[in-house]
Amino acid sequence: MPPRIRIFDTTLRDGEQTPGASLTVDEKVSVARQLARTRVDVIEAGFPAASPGEAEAVRRISQEVGAGEDAPAIAALARCVPADVTVAAAALEPARRRQLHVFIATSDIHITHKLRTNREDVLERIRTCVAQARRMVGPDHDVEFSAEDASRSELPFLLAAYEAAVQAGASVINVPDTVGYAEPKEFAAVVKQVVKLVGKRAIVSTHCHNDLGLATANTLAGIQAGARQVEVTVNGLGERAGNAALEEVVMALRTRPAQFRAATTNVATEQLTATSRLVSYLTGIVVQPNKSVVGANAFAHESGIHQDGFLKNPLTYEIMTPESVGLSGSTLTLGKLSGRAGFDERLRRLGIHVEPETLDTLYAEAITLGDQKKQVTDADLLALAEQHADPVPQLVGLEHWAAASRQGESSSGNVSLFYEGKTFRAFAGGNGPVDALLSAVDNALEQIIGGRPQLVDYQLRSIGQGEDAQGEATVKISAPAGDGDVPQIFTGHGLSTNVVEASLRAYIAAVNKLIAEHPVAADAVAAARQRREGGNPVPTPAGSHP
Ligand code: KIV
Ligand code: ZN
Repeated sequence: MPPRIRIFDTTLRDGEQTPGASLTVDEKVSVARQLARTRVDVIEAGFPAASPGEAEAVRRISQEVGAGEDAPAIAALARCVPADVTVAAAALEPARRRQLHVFIATSDIHITHKLRTNREDVLERIRTCVAQARRMVGPDHDVEFSAEDASRSELPFLLAAYEAAVQAGASVINVPDTVGYAEPKEFAAVVKQVVKLVGKRAIVSTHCHNDLGLATANTLAGIQAGARQVEVTVNGLGERAGNAALEEVVMALRTRPAQFRAATTNVATEQLTATSRLVSYLTGIVVQPNKSVVGANAFAHESGIHQDGFLKNPLTYEIMTPESVGLSGSTLTLGKLSGRAGFDERLRRLGIHVEPETLDTLYAEAITLGDQKKQVTDADLLALAEQHADPVPQLVGLEHWAAASRQGESSSGNVSLFYEGKTFRAFAGGNGPVDALLSAVDNALEQIIGGRPQLVDYQLRSIGQGEDAQGEATVKISAPAGDGDVPQIFTGHGLSTNVVEASLRAYIAAVNKLIAEHPVAADAVAAARQRREGGNPVPTPAGSHP
């Protein structure tokens, strides 16, 4: 029988540890829904003990994505600490299939310097916490044990740790190459030993990081050595240089079956492009054009010799088809007279999934865009659809903006925002129209939330080509961090044929996420409201002009 490889996606846990990639709870639910459509087997939804927001995300994903008959299993991470295991088990409760993932480091460098303990204590913690996890999820669900830094652990001790975990009730044994140090032969040798040790008592899994660019190669070597679960992320996101990329591992298995005893996965590969795009959109982390499988150039043929060969027979230079990963090269021309049936079919072929109630809005938006530009391309359609996949709370709205800008002079901008039925106007100067308008928004926000966010990143890209291409702005802002915390980042997008408006919309989208999710925002908004309504004048910052 060809082996069946279980795809464990950790985009929402390890992937979210990518610097600057933090997602709101609603955004995590959107990604989880798309992962379910991609038919991964397990979604690691988060690390519930890390924060109340993480616990809520795992619970909501368990409820909203993991409760159905065919739903993927939902996993939650816990340190080998009883309180972590308790919180993770509770967050997973609504899920139909649960995988409680317990980890502790087994390398001497981690045991001595990070945990400041000894091997005996590590074994004892494994026995206690894996047994607790097993009791809490019961016999029908999975308990996974990970030996952090396995690839740098002394082999006999690593095997003793895995033996302790299996005896305490672990049904999945994970071999992480935590710091991306292993090379394929060496990693395969470790996996082989672990497979031999656990036999049929547990599934052996890999978890490879990409510090030396070997994460996918190591994962595939692990499969050849007998691993039957692989931990991967969309676009290879993850701590530092990232994790093995889901799309690379899955397409390698599909393209080279003879190398992997015809191993199969359950992944709907035609969803891979849509999944990659959604994750890139919501995290604001751009996929490099030459990224394998999902990069913009992955199926582009530039040189004359390649083009000639490709046109004679695509097999000359293409080892997989663009369609197999959900890419269609064609462009769609949409206009006032375009039919609805063709539109629906095009969405289906592009792997775009929107809720039925959003379909009419999307169609209307595409037709309106068709009035503004000559051609509505697939790229435009994907960008419009992504906006609907991004759950932006509608709290602060943009009523009006105007900007003036001249060569050699500073620019000025004024905006009207509405919030809770009232209009807030502000003016500011700046270095160019975008700077002036964002400063004007900040001045208006002083009146609404009594503070101004920090701009962390701003990017502008063109959607499609040509003089009438749309501009998509991506803005990242941060809210102030509590003591010792990393500041939470909120990402907003704006799409328009006018790049100034796209920038403004992106900023306001990020602000809305901040106001809706940041724990101190509610208090700040209430205090600002009281100052406004209690008759105390709201301080007017320099440059603002109500
Ligand atoms: O890289 C790692 O070791 C991890 C574990 C928690 C599995 O992410
Ligand atoms: Zn990791």
